[in-house]
Amino acid sequence: MSVTLSIDHHIARIVIDRPEAFNAMNESILLQIKDAVDTIQKNEDIRVAIFMGGGTKSFVAGADISYMSSMTPLEGEKWAKLGQSVFSTISELRCPSIAAIQGYALGGGTELAIACDLRIASEKACFAQPEVKLGIIPGFGGTQRLTRLIGPGNAKQMILTGNQFSAQQALAMGLVNEVVPHDQLTERVDALALSLASGSPNGIRLAKEAIEHGLQSSLNEGLQLEAALFGLCFASPEQREGMTAFLEKRKPKL
Ligand code: CAA
Repeated sequence: MSVTLSIDHHIARIVIDRPEAFNAMNESILLQIKDAVDTIQKNEDIRVAIFMGGGTKSFVAGADISYMSSMTPLEGEKWAKLGQSVFSTISELRCPSIAAIQGYALGGGTELAIACDLRIASEKACFAQPEVKLGIIPGFGGTQRLTRLIGPGNAKQMILTGNQFSAQQALAMGLVNEVVPHDQLTERVDALALSLASGSPNGIRLAKEAIEHGLQSSLNEGLQLEAALFGLCFASPEQREGMTAFLEKRKPKL
């Protein structure tokens, strides 16, 4: 069982591969994801991170139920805090992240996907927050990130019923950005990654920061931060190159 990180042409790929349990996450898997994310954050050469599940059937089938089954309340809280902190490092990545979802994204699997910036799903993907069926609640950010992403009505429908939702239903709720034919998932995710990698890393990082901070502040505070970060862009060589290239009618070298 392992999490592998490969880096190619500014694009990092993190594959969660635990075939015996549909890629469910125990402590070791979570810590391996954290190591991979820390490595990406330290490497300024990386412009996009793609998260995917090994095999063909599952993105991630959630937290490991056998591992959680005998936890005490204190251990449960510690476990949720570990998952939350690992997933927060993903949402705080300097570079944009994409979840490539080819199959089951259940519980912690949906929570991992929504910690990423963008989600591309195969038509065979399926989503759920089935925790209430296990007598628990989502613990890796689901009650908070899902509500912010798809609104309280949709989030409550998913979390309070625990039911599974198809890729098309997820698209209609705004849970995923795109649904593509199963055999075109890799191709589409790679094309998106290349397009993100060709943008201004500084612009993308500051835009992410403005959006993420704005989600946690008032409109006025968010607008103030946006203006400050907008100003900061003008201290970067990427702004000079981007605008000069436009005026010279050529492609920018970002
Ligand atoms: N934890 C541990 N083992 C899991 C698992 C999980 N989340 N999901 C699947 N597995 C294991 C099964 O126990 C089974 O192992 P054995 O072969 O040793 O019996 C193996 O994977 C195959 O699973 P199934 O036989 O059930 O295969 P299936 O095709 O009939 O169903 C499935 C696949 C729909 C993914 C089903 O296994 C399932 O519903 N899994 C549980 C999903 C779930 O409830 N996830 C939420 C966990 S709670 C959580 O994530 C909390 C949080 O917020 C952090």
